[in-house]
Amino acid sequence: MDVRDLLDQGVTRARDAVSSVAVETRPFVRALVRLCDDGWGQGWHERNGGNASYRLTDEDVRSCRACFHEQPRPWQPLDAAVPAMAGEHLLVTAAGSYFRNVADDPSRALGIVEVDGAGASWRPVWGFAGDGRPTSELASHVIIQGARKEATAGASRVVYHCHPVPVIALTFALPADGRTLTRALWKTMTECIMVFPGGVGAVPTAVPGSRRLADLTAEAARDHAAVIWAHHGLLATGATCDEAFGLAHVVVKAAAIYAEVRALCGGEPAFPLSDDDLAELARGLGVTPRADYLGWPAQRPGPAGAASAASSREG
Ligand code: 13P
Ligand code: ZN
Repeated sequence: MDVRDLLDQGVTRARDAVSSVAVETRPFVRALVRLCDDGWGQGWHERNGGNASYRLTDEDVRSCRACFHEQPRPWQPLDAAVPAMAGEHLLVTAAGSYFRNVADDPSRALGIVEVDGAGASWRPVWGFAGDGRPTSELASHVIIQGARKEATAGASRVVYHCHPVPVIALTFALPADGRTLTRALWKTMTECIMVFPGGVGAVPTAVPGSRRLADLTAEAARDHAAVIWAHHGLLATGATCDEAFGLAHVVVKAAAIYAEVRALCGGEPAFPLSDDDLAELARGLGVTPRADYLGWPAQRPGPAGAASAASSREG
């Protein structure tokens, strides 16, 4: 190798090191790193369990474009066409990355992908150091990001997938049906209905990383900010990492309470909150819950008032 090649190699390495650090210090990267670290701390990410993505703003892209790969990498098919995501950039976790390691080496555990003008292909533009690649659920993230972007007039930017024990356990006890799961969760804590008035969606058991899982989730995500994957985990979305993580946290806590009460009572809990109570809570908290999940007043007319009646076993 001649001196020129050595020099070029050194310059490339120095440039890579500088661009890693420059992007890693951007606030949007630090926010996703913190979400991963917090999820690890909660015990929701065994091994490489879970993945996450953040849809960059134009300002985010502008602020780190100078650090993107000098030589564009080849486009790769997404196995889906998502016009809503045309031209977007996503910061995503790498396939096989362990959430416990994200904070130690963000440019290895994360990377930025650019979606092409048709929303049908992607290419890496930063990160995934050491020949990494985006999560095996990349197609899911792009499809779900697109669905949430449309459902929230562009506000939703974060998709967070985790494997919390209480949520997975809940899908053994109750059917993978959004209405049933939502009602069980709403009735465990008075503030659930405020945090997710639209309820949670549900997807039956499906192969991780499969197109079927992505499509069913996108369908559920059109009118739910959180979706439970039977026997797999949870997907929570939001405008910010705080919002997505906070939503996941509340769903997990409610599921844990449900399990605890079920164990204490030796079976299906007799919920102290009736539909009337939920409706009154919603009024008091200033939210409009999803009417077909509340089933009030058509199903259960009756006097309002907190804890006015024990509800049915169906919840
Ligand atoms: P990845 O490591 O490919 O992101 O897979 C983790 C996971 O939880 C799949 O559902
Ligand atoms: Zn998973």
